[in-house]
Amino acid sequence: MNEHDSEQILRLLEKSHYLETKDAQQADLVLVNTCSVREKPEQKVYSALGRFRKLKEERGTIIGVAGCVAQQEGQRLLTRIPYLDMVIGTHAIPIISQMLERVEVTGEKVCETGFDTEGEYLDTFLPQGQVSVVKSFVTIMQGCNHFCSYCIVPYVRGRERSRPSQEIVDEVSHLTQKGVREICLLGQNVNSYGKGLEEEIKFPELLSRLDEIEGVGRIRFTTSHPKDLSEELIQAHGRLKKLCEHIHLPFQSGSNRILKAMNRGYTRESYIEKIDRLREVCPSIAITSDVIVGFPGEEEKDFEETLDLIEKVRFDDLFSFKYSPRKETKAARLGEQVEEKVKQERLTLLQRIQKEITLQKNQVLEGRIEEVLVEGYSKQSERDVTGRTRNNRVVNFEGDLSLVGRLVQTKITKAYAHSLRGEIVPSDCGMPNADCGMKTLNL
Ligand code: 5AD
Ligand code: SF4
Repeated sequence: MNEHDSEQILRLLEKSHYLETKDAQQADLVLVNTCSVREKPEQKVYSALGRFRKLKEERGTIIGVAGCVAQQEGQRLLTRIPYLDMVIGTHAIPIISQMLERVEVTGEKVCETGFDTEGEYLDTFLPQGQVSVVKSFVTIMQGCNHFCSYCIVPYVRGRERSRPSQEIVDEVSHLTQKGVREICLLGQNVNSYGKGLEEEIKFPELLSRLDEIEGVGRIRFTTSHPKDLSEELIQAHGRLKKLCEHIHLPFQSGSNRILKAMNRGYTRESYIEKIDRLREVCPSIAITSDVIVGFPGEEEKDFEETLDLIEKVRFDDLFSFKYSPRKETKAARLGEQVEEKVKQERLTLLQRIQKEITLQKNQVLEGRIEEVLVEGYSKQSERDVTGRTRNNRVVNFEGDLSLVGRLVQTKITKAYAHSLRGEIVPSDCGMPNADCGMKTLNL
């Protein structure tokens, strides 16, 4: 979501005649877009700002903070960091150009942290301008009404708001006409899509409409809450051709006692049932998840239940975090905070177990043919290109930039813990729909 916000900010500032530079020394404006979901990213903001202080002193660079830390801290940031010019809250992105103009003209410091619920910024969703990418995010809803007891998101992103379906369809059509092949629908809880809209529509129906748009190659979405994962959405994974065989379904803990304290609204049993059902409907589906260790009151036996769930489900990949107390949240006020050392030990053990599972699941793919959407050169070498399979696995293989934006059939030659190595399938591979190892999309 932050990545997407940064893209939106760039597009808006381009309209105000700003150009992107990767070199802060050259910049007239430096914006730090921030996340406050855990303490570590929040701390990084302050060290990043420290580095830009000199720029302000030497070149008079305008310095701003956007995103969740800006929303959370507001005016306090301006006091804490005297050389800061702008604080741009999560709902203030659409007015960023006006804010910047005020700083440029008057030299005043500006801070906007109002929420749309107060009737201030209704038009948070922005039309897409210039597009030159293979895949793109599209916001379908914002905010969250869940209030999981550890989570800051509802406080910094506000309540749920869905975007009218026609706007989404128009944006996806526009993006595909510009050459975008893969769409990732964004929302804090996409399963709540449609609530509060004048039209009668739910998330699976939105997916069906998008699936019909000619030129769309792949559709993904993130994130889905297990409590609200409906049978219709499960079935959509068996039914819709462009919807990728991947779901990110955060489980957070394998202990019912902890899930209750987290206010998650499901049990380990009902979570596992939904996974079974997904695999029944779509056997090749990859399942990834988020988990937190060391939530207040988590005992050894709760943690063992988390490990047990991981071994039972065998996730394709897992993002694991140590619990980090967040201001304003209910869990931060609980006693029984787990010691840092214990959290670290649990995290290390859990990650070791998951790494082995991920590797084993990747190894199963050795020798198989996988469709890869090529995104660009790989990070390691300019002789290799990189892309993702429909299961969202990274594949690197020899090739050049002429492949970017194409769906390429690759044979997996080697599996690693975080990626796969492959090679383009030669022309006589006998694969259906692949005469030369590559497929361009039917536009
Ligand atoms: N501490 C640790 N992890 C957290 N997450 C959200 N809030 C916290 C917190 N206070 C994790 C959850 C969520 C992911 C985006 O970040 O696992 O799914
Ligand atoms: Fe946070 Fe997700 Fe829970 Fe909403 S559903 S409060 S975003 S963890």
